[in-house]
Amino acid sequence: MIRDLYSQAINGLMSSDEWIIRQDHYDPKTNLQYESLFCLANGYMGTRGAHEEGTRVSIPCTYINGVFDKSETFMRELANMPNWLGIKLYIDKQLLSVDECEILEFSRALDIKKSILFKRIRLRDEYGRETLIEGLRFVSRYNIHLGAIKLYVTPINYNGILEVENIIDGSVVNFCDAPRFKVKHTALVENGSLLDDGEYIEVKTRDFGMHIGTGCKIKLFNDEGENLINNRQYGSFGEQAIEFVDCPVEEGKTIQIHKLTSFYTGRDVCEEKIKDAVLNDLSQFNYKSINEELDRHTKIYDAMWNDADIQINGDTELNRAIRFNIYHLMSTASEQDDRINIGAKLLHGEEYGGHAFWDTELFMLPFFTYVFPNTASNLVKYRYHLLDAARKNAQENGFLGAKYPWESADTGEEECPDWTIMPDGSCYPCYVAKYEHHVTADVAFGAYNYYQITNDMDYLLQYGAEIILETARFWSSRFEYNHESNRYEIFDVTGPDEWHEPVDNNCYTNYMAKWNIQVGLSLIKMLKSEHPQEYRRITAKISLHDKELELWQKVKEHVYLPKGKDGTLFEQFEGYFDLTEAIIEEYNEKDMPVRPQILKSVRLSETQLIKQADVVMLMYLLGSEFDKETQRVNYDYYEKRTMHGSSLSPSIYAIMGLRVGRTAMAYRYLRRAAFIDLLDLQKNTREGIHAANAGGVWKTVVFGFAGISINKENQLCIDPEMPPQWKEVIFKIHFHGSQLQIQVNCENEVSVELLSGKGIDIIINGKSLRVE
Ligand code: BGC
Repeated sequence: MIRDLYSQAINGLMSSDEWIIRQDHYDPKTNLQYESLFCLANGYMGTRGAHEEGTRVSIPCTYINGVFDKSETFMRELANMPNWLGIKLYIDKQLLSVDECEILEFSRALDIKKSILFKRIRLRDEYGRETLIEGLRFVSRYNIHLGAIKLYVTPINYNGILEVENIIDGSVVNFCDAPRFKVKHTALVENGSLLDDGEYIEVKTRDFGMHIGTGCKIKLFNDEGENLINNRQYGSFGEQAIEFVDCPVEEGKTIQIHKLTSFYTGRDVCEEKIKDAVLNDLSQFNYKSINEELDRHTKIYDAMWNDADIQINGDTELNRAIRFNIYHLMSTASEQDDRINIGAKLLHGEEYGGHAFWDTELFMLPFFTYVFPNTASNLVKYRYHLLDAARKNAQENGFLGAKYPWESADTGEEECPDWTIMPDGSCYPCYVAKYEHHVTADVAFGAYNYYQITNDMDYLLQYGAEIILETARFWSSRFEYNHESNRYEIFDVTGPDEWHEPVDNNCYTNYMAKWNIQVGLSLIKMLKSEHPQEYRRITAKISLHDKELELWQKVKEHVYLPKGKDGTLFEQFEGYFDLTEAIIEEYNEKDMPVRPQILKSVRLSETQLIKQADVVMLMYLLGSEFDKETQRVNYDYYEKRTMHGSSLSPSIYAIMGLRVGRTAMAYRYLRRAAFIDLLDLQKNTREGIHAANAGGVWKTVVFGFAGISINKENQLCIDPEMPPQWKEVIFKIHFHGSQLQIQVNCENEVSVELLSGKGIDIIINGKSLRVE
C-alpha cells in the first residue's frame, strides 16, 4: 500500500491503493502533466497540482468557474486567480524545494476517494541538512470557498530556525510559459494584511471589473497544538502578499504548518462584502479547523462516490483509471450554480479557456443526468439562460431561431477565435465557429435526453421546450432547398471531423438537424394535446405559427442524406468517397494510430483520414434509426480511417464496437479512453483533463459493456456484454426519479435493486421486469 510509505500523521487518512493516483519521482518534464492530473476542484474552483514552494516548470492556476475575462486575448477565458498555494520554507536562506535540493524521497498521491492530494518529500541541501516534508491539500466540497494545506516538517539531522513565507501571488497571468500568449486578466485592487495575522489580496477582472478577494492565514503548531511562531511580519510586494513567520526546529521533531485560504467573488456576494466574507471564513481558524473541515469534506465525497462509483471486479488497474475520470468530472461540476457550465478541460488547465462545447451535452451530461440529476439540471438550464444570446447569434448570421455558439463562456456569445496562432507566431484562420453548426442540434439533443431520463416535465415546459423549438427553427432556416432534386441541403458546414472543412451535406449535421426538427414537431403535438395552456404560452412567446410548422414538416421529409452506392455505407459528406484512400495500418506502443505514410505526399484534408467519430457518432446517437448491418458496415469502414485526433473519439468507437460485434476492439478503445490523461496519450494533458473523454469513459462502461439504453417507449433497457476480463460490474443510476443499483456478472446476468423512488418497469436482456 502506498500509505505505508507515509508516516502516521498522514497514512491514517489515506484510502487504499485502488483509489490512489501516484507520482513516484519528480521529473520537470512531466510536472505539468501531474499538475493537471492532481488538480483539485470542488464545483466552484479548481487549483492545479503545483507545488507549494514553486518549481521552475509550472503553470500554477486556480480558476473560479464563471470568472471570465478577455483583455488582449482572442476570447473571454477563465482568468487565472491569485495563486494561494505559496508556502516557502527556508533554512538559513536555503529554499527547500525539489529544484534546489537533492531529492532523497519523492511521493505525491492523489486520493480520489477523498479528494485530497498528499505528498512526502525528503530533501538534502548542499550542506547535507535533510528535511522531511509531508503534507496534504484539499479544496473543500463543504465550504466551497475554502482551500487548505497542512504540512509536517521534520529536520532529520539538524537544529535551526525555520523561516516560512506564506504567499498569495496576484501577479499570475494566463499562459505564463508561452511568451506569445501571456495575458494578465486581473488588476490589483488591494494588497493588505488581515487584522492581526494573515493577508488579503483583492483583484478585479479587467473587462467586466468583477472583484475577487482571497485571504489566508498560516499557523505553526507542535503536535500538542501549541503555537510555535516566534516572529510574524506582513509584507506587500506589488501584487504579492508575503507574510513572514519563523520558529525554531529541532532534529527529529516534527512541526505542523496549517494554511487556510478563502475566495469570494462578486458572483457570490456584493462587491463591498467580499472582504468580510473572506474574513468570516478565516476568523475561527485554530489547530482543529483543517481537520474538521476535512472531515466534512470527505463525508461529502463519500456520499458522492456512493452514487457515482463503478466497481469492476477483475480489472483493478482499469477500474482505477475509470474512477479517475469520474472523479475529475464530478469534482468540477456544480450542484449549486446554473449559470456555469463545464469547460472542455474542466478547471484543470488553460486550453479552451474554460469554454463549454458540445462536449457537455453529448459526453458529460449523460453521466450527470443518470448519476447527479440536480447537477445535470443546472447544466441544461445554463443553455436556457443563454438562449437570448443564441437568438442574437442566429440573427446576426442571417438565420431564424437560436444558434448556439461553438464555444460558450458566460455571455453566450461565440468565444471561438477566428484565428489560431502557432507557437512560431504564424497565424491561420480557424473556421470552426463559422461552420461547425451541429452544436445547436447537440444542445437540443442534450435538453431532450435530460427530459427522457429524468421525466422532468417542469424542465421541459419551463426551459427545454423553448430550446428545442428555437433550435428546430434555426435548422429550418439553415437548410437550403434544391429545386432540381427536391431536397433540403446544408452547404458550407463542418461536421465533428474538423479535418475537412467546410463541406457540403455533412451526414452527421444533416441528420441531427432533421432529428431536431422532428423532435420540435413531436413536442408541439404533445404540448397541444397534453398541455394546451403551456402550448399557447410557449408558441405565443416565440411567435411560432402553423405556417412555419408546415415548412418544418416539409424540410424534415426532404432532408438529403448522402449515402454510398449500395445504400448502406454513408458518405461523411458529399465528395468524401472521391478523396485519396488512406487506411490506418499501424498502432504505436500506446495503441494509438500511427500516421499513414501517404501523408508524406498528400495533404491530410485531401485524404479520407478523419479526426474523430463522425458518421459513427451519428449512429451512436441515433442508433435505432439504423439497422445493425448498416451500423457494422459504417463502423468497419470508418474505424480504419479515424485517427482519434480528438479525445472525443475512442469512447464512441468503444460503445459502437460493442453494438456491431467488435467486442475485443471495444475493450481496447475503452482502455485508450480511460488512460488518455494518466498516460498522456494525446500528449497535451499539461493543458488540462479531457472532460468529454471522462464522460465518454463512464458512458462506455454503462451504455456499452453494461448495456443501458432507453427504447422508443422511453423504458430503461439493460443488455450487457461483459468483456472476458470482468467478473462483475456494479453501479447506480437514477431513472425517472428512482435510483437503481445495477449489478452484472460475467454471464451477463443482471440484478437490479430499487434504492429509492417508485417501482419501475425495465427490460433486461429483452424480458420485461418490474423492479419494486
Ligand atoms: C474536437 C471537438 C471538441 C473540442 C473540445 C476538438 O479537438 O475536435 O469535437 O469539441 O476539441 O474538446
